[in-house]
Amino acid sequence: MNSASPLDLPHARADFPFLQVEVNGRRVAYLDNGASTQKPRAVIERMAGFSAREYANVHRGIHLLSERATAAYEAARERAAEFLGAPQPECIVFTRGTTEGINLVANAWGEANVRAGDTILLTEMEHHSNLVPWIELARRKGARVKYAPVTELGAALDLEAARRLIAARPRLFAFAHVSNTLGVISPAAELCALARELGVTTLIDGAQSAGHLPVNVSEIDCDFFACSAHKMCGPTGIGLLYGRHALLEAMPPWQYGGEMVERVEYTGATFRPPPARFEAGTPAIIEAAGLHAALDYVESVGLPAVAAHCERLGELTAEALRAIEGVRVFGPPGHRAGLVTFHVESVHAHDLAFFANDLGVAMRAGHHCAQPLMRKLGAPSSCRMSFYLYNTDAELARGVEAVREAIDFFSRS
Ligand SMILES: Cc1ncc(COP(=O)(O)O)c(C=O)c1O
Repeated sequence: MNSASPLDLPHARADFPFLQVEVNGRRVAYLDNGASTQKPRAVIERMAGFSAREYANVHRGIHLLSERATAAYEAARERAAEFLGAPQPECIVFTRGTTEGINLVANAWGEANVRAGDTILLTEMEHHSNLVPWIELARRKGARVKYAPVTELGAALDLEAARRLIAARPRLFAFAHVSNTLGVISPAAELCALARELGVTTLIDGAQSAGHLPVNVSEIDCDFFACSAHKMCGPTGIGLLYGRHALLEAMPPWQYGGEMVERVEYTGATFRPPPARFEAGTPAIIEAAGLHAALDYVESVGLPAVAAHCERLGELTAEALRAIEGVRVFGPPGHRAGLVTFHVESVHAHDLAFFANDLGVAMRAGHHCAQPLMRKLGAPSSCRMSFYLYNTDAELARGVEAVREAIDFFSRS
């Protein structure tokens, strides 16, 4: 287990207005953080304050408000670069989220670099966001998609097999840093080093790792890294794509319009350097201010402490669920992220989640946007409890108790 200085839980919980709210007359144990996290007061207030006092469109006015809004927007980019360990702010493209970041790379980089007969290497444990854009790109280009397998019982990525497949030099290797189903943390730096040695371009889906554990894209040495603000205390509608600057510079635009052009004639246009080239139209300005506040907030809590806290809750949950008869827990036995997917033999996942909801526990049920993996694991529908920096042992216990009670209830009905 990770040994970071402990998280000041009462202090952190006081920062989240949501935790004081009653839903249907009771406080909810919110265990669906893998889908989206709650927002601290600092983010809510920053977005409200920015909207009330500082708002204007960016990059286009010469009036004071526009200048200030532009400065705030670009300050958020600088903060994001620092947060992810990017060498310069120009390596950070604002997107709508992880999904859009991956689509941007699949379209802009993929269209220019993937050819018929090429291989795109993914893993079997990818979220649909890191599957479908590549499957579609491969279809358009006449390329092939291959998958690094997960280990037999659905514990982790089969690293030996992944190394072998990277050694065959695919055009790209795209993989989740933290699996949103297995909760396994893949050795991103090791995999990227191997890929780099062989000239294989790498993309990391960081949706479940950014803001949950320390991430430094320069140390990992990946080519692309995509993540979403809403999974780390920030607002919806904004995310980050880190790209190695030389790669971004060589990529064509993928959307066209205002803001991303240098000169436009009736017959054609020239485009601005990155990141502006990839940010056509009015961006998510208020959300950028909120994201800036979220990054400040998460770092003030301390990422090593957040990681240790969530890992502990994940391990305790996995252990408690494994002890219940008829429950199958996916993911690694030890070191893991703070999310646990499990399948209950005797109760359908949706029934279980409905039952838990009645007890004031919010958990996820379904395929977790990883249909091929869950089918392979023989659990097309399963439940998931996922934790963040404000969750307590008591909430975890409520989640586990809801599973026990559901099994008992459905065995009698
Ligand atoms: C591993 C992973 N990748 C991608 C995504 C997509 O993120 P978003 O919906 O914010 O684009 C998610 C969301 O759950 C995820 O868990």
